[in-house]
Amino acid sequence: MPVDPTALPRHVAIIMDGNGRWAQDKGLPRIEGHRRGANAVHEVVRTAREIGVKALTLYAFSAQNWLRPPEEVAMLMRLLREYVIAERAEIMDNAIRLVAIGDLDRLPGLVREPLELLVSDSAGNQAMTLCLALSYGGRESIVATSRALCEAVKRGELSPADVTEGCFQSAMQTADLPQLDLLIRTSGEVRLSNFLLWESAYAELYFTDTYWPEFGRDEFVRALESYRGRQRRFGRTGEQLRRLG
Ligand code: FPP
Repeated sequence: MPVDPTALPRHVAIIMDGNGRWAQDKGLPRIEGHRRGANAVHEVVRTAREIGVKALTLYAFSAQNWLRPPEEVAMLMRLLREYVIAERAEIMDNAIRLVAIGDLDRLPGLVREPLELLVSDSAGNQAMTLCLALSYGGRESIVATSRALCEAVKRGELSPADVTEGCFQSAMQTADLPQLDLLIRTSGEVRLSNFLLWESAYAELYFTDTYWPEFGRDEFVRALESYRGRQRRFGRTGEQLRRLG
């Protein structure tokens, strides 16, 4: 369905890139870039909630990030744990529902336990959904969904003809999030890096040179303004959309 191009995106996703380069430019260890990146997460979550975005998905750790040096992986895990613990009040007081997507079984208990607790405690919150993509890969999630549907077919619960686009969508981990409207990537890189491949089919894309630790309220608002100026045609012509009003 075409949406009013002047509307706010309901679901925004962000590839938070450039922590390492930000730190390097300042002569700091990469880890410091991630720490500053966590501060930017706080500011952007607060801004999205204030403005009225319904869902915000953040690429916090990719399936491929396990290949980074073990000390960096360990530090990112500690940072994620600290974030989930330190932001508990912010999340609960602002009626934010926290969810996570990805291969969560791969996360160490020190992240999984506080994460599962906050996911469960915040499940009834309705103002905004904050979705953390952790140990996440777009291809991996499509494969996992395909496998689950094959298993349902094998058990006789589905027939192959039932596997429609809608059925597939309902079986994805992101099924209960609104359609992805806007995907932002920081740091000047212009690629999707295996993020939300299925969900981004009709998303508007916004790229900025700003490194993630310096991305804050103003730049987030600029991305929303850019989105407002886009005409989303969903395969139709501009003329058809004008007639549909
Ligand atoms: C990419 O920058 C960023 C990551 C791999 C991790 C993102 C993590 C955070 C923003 C902080 C923790 C997250 C939360 C939700 C609290 P990079 O290291 O690839 O940067 P580079 O390309 O400049 O090296």
